Amino acid sequence: MIKFQSVVKEYNGQKALDGISLQIHHGEFISLVGLSGAGKSTLLKLIIGEEKIDGGKILIDDVDISHVRKADLPYLRRKIGMVFQDIKLLPKRTAFENVAFAMEVCGHTLEKIKKEVPQILELVGLAHKADSFPHEISGGEQQRVAIARSLSHRPVLLLADEPTGNLDEVNAMEVLDLLLKINELGTTVILATHASDLVNKIKKRVITIEEGKITMEQEKGKYKL
Ligand SMILES: Nc1ncnc2c1ncn2[C@@H]1O[C@H](COP(=O)(O)OP(=O)(O)O)[C@@H](O)[C@H]1O
Ligand SMILES: [Mg+2]
Repeated sequence: MIKFQSVVKEYNGQKALDGISLQIHHGEFISLVGLSGAGKSTLLKLIIGEEKIDGGKILIDDVDISHVRKADLPYLRRKIGMVFQDIKLLPKRTAFENVAFAMEVCGHTLEKIKKEVPQILELVGLAHKADSFPHEISGGEQQRVAIARSLSHRPVLLLADEPTGNLDEVNAMEVLDLLLKINELGTTVILATHASDLVNKIKKRVITIEEGKITMEQEKGKYKL
């Protein structure tokens, strides 16, 4: 699904990614781990075409996105959902409305929205909080609403950039369990995190990145700092 070939990304002449080659298959769950500043977010930004690369090649489903035209970016992004550490729900809208709003923006009909939002909230385990506002639910629940929102356009790939960064351990595990469940349902997931303890708990493929280079790749491995 995703192929990086000797990818280089520079900021002001400094290499943020330095010759990254990797391959991610449909249906995989990948943990991308490394210290702050290692290049995790940059790698995700390249996948969604938010930043241009300075060398190498990135193929997504055999399409070379290094040369994708700006006008074609929406087609690429339609395949991808993204969640961040910084959750950013609309504070004056309920959980239901936050997900519904994302679908409205994508141009879905009211009928479809009314049918699908409850299904998506059910999937993330928050059907009973549909009418709650962000300030009325926990951080973990807020992140699950954000994940629901990111799933509303049915992406085949979900990128999660430090999604548990602001959460305590219990809430973080809830979010991780949800990402694993989404993966089991068929969505490819890439989880970028510096939290080695979390990655150790989920026995999935781990890619370690240090100073812009992949330094370790483990199948269902354990990550050690
Ligand atoms: N927009 C930017 N401008 C300049 N330097 C950047 C920018 N984004 C990231 N960097 C640098 O690139 C490196 C990798 O950053 P990042 O991908 O955010 O790491 P991580 O997500 O692993 O913490 C860091 O040295 C960071 O300072
Ligand atoms: Mg980051």
